[in-house]
Amino acid sequence: MVSPVLLEVGSRSGRYGIHIEPGSAARVSALLDGAGVPRRRFLVSNPTVWRLHEQTFAGVTPEEPILIPDGERHKTLQTVGRIYDALIRAHADRASAIVAVGGGVLGDTAGFAAATYLRGIPHVQIPTTLLAQVDSAVGGKVGVNHAQGKNLIGAFHPPALVVVDPALLVTLPRREFRAGLYEVVKYGVIASRPLFDRVAASLAALFRRDPDALIPIVVESCRIKASVVEEDERETGRRRTLNFGHTVGHALEAVTKYRRFRHGEAVGYGMLRTTRRSWLGSCTSCCRRRSASAKSSRTSRRTSLPRRCARSACPGRRIFRLQADVTRSRAL
Ligand SMILES: NC(=O)c1ccc[n+]([C@@H]2O[C@H](COP(=O)([O-])OP(=O)(O)OC[C@H]3O[C@@H](n4cnc5c(N)ncnc54)[C@H](O)[C@@H]3O)[C@@H](O)[C@H]2O)c1
Ligand SMILES: [Zn+2]
Repeated sequence: MVSPVLLEVGSRSGRYGIHIEPGSAARVSALLDGAGVPRRRFLVSNPTVWRLHEQTFAGVTPEEPILIPDGERHKTLQTVGRIYDALIRAHADRASAIVAVGGGVLGDTAGFAAATYLRGIPHVQIPTTLLAQVDSAVGGKVGVNHAQGKNLIGAFHPPALVVVDPALLVTLPRREFRAGLYEVVKYGVIASRPLFDRVAASLAALFRRDPDALIPIVVESCRIKASVVEEDERETGRRRTLNFGHTVGHALEAVTKYRRFRHGEAVGYGMLRTTRRSWLGSCTSCCRRRSASAKSSRTSRRTSLPRRCARSACPGRRIFRLQADVTRSRAL
């Protein structure tokens, strides 16, 4: 029996809780009641998640679940329109709430519908991917993509509650799990060396979804995200650090039409690219010396940067080593 971890996040529209506990999804109704979520609840999910977890959520509401198509290419205003249609058909009013059950795509889309339907109704996030549990469900950013770019249409609409049940990740395909792990690595780099080292030391257990390995990294990631967004909800300062790897990552996603990379994978490559670029500026002379002597090699001619630093404390070296481990973990 693992005791629940409760975190609180301050936002302009009040405080909300993050409830982290394996098995919490099974008693979500009580948690919603406890958080004062309006009684008329509309569950939004997608067919993939619903097929796997319908049993867990079937009793949450007597209303028909609103199922929207799965996939980043459906994170559009058209899909938001389908949610509006279902809400209007059911006469949902201001005393109604949306309960989003799914990954980051689902949470962002359903959250945006909640932000805009009747000028805003409450929403609850129940993230079912690692990426959504450690990142997208926390912080109140909701939105959809536009043909011209990712997340171009959106709002800040903090949830009334976030319920994180790491046990839901058991059904997550390992590629999706690995993609989420890159966002955890991101927190390690920007905010917590112990978290980074913990991920590096427990990859096999994490991929087995071993709760002893998984829960601490989910909790620590949520803690970091909560602290960053509480300090800078509207992304005018510290919240920008969460975008580490994302400029390149979003560009990679866009040029490959959101089909080739999972979001976390694109961010993983983005972090590598950004680190390579900034490495020489921040590392001590060892990298620069190596770079100079390697300039004639084929690799460095291509990248104009050294492939590897000899200094064990070099941050660049640590990131590259972990990236190699995560990629290799395909075999685990
Ligand atoms: N709002 C934010 O602050 C924020 C932060 C980071 C990322 N994001 C967004 O999150 C999105 C990526 O989210 P994602 O990586 O969760 O992808 P996703 O939502 O596409 O989910 C990945 C796949 O896993 C499936 N799935 C979800 N839960 C499952 C489960 N328990 N078992 C089996 N399959 C399951 C989904 O249906 C989907 O097919 C991007 O659109 C990104 O822009 C938003
Ligand atoms: Zn991200």
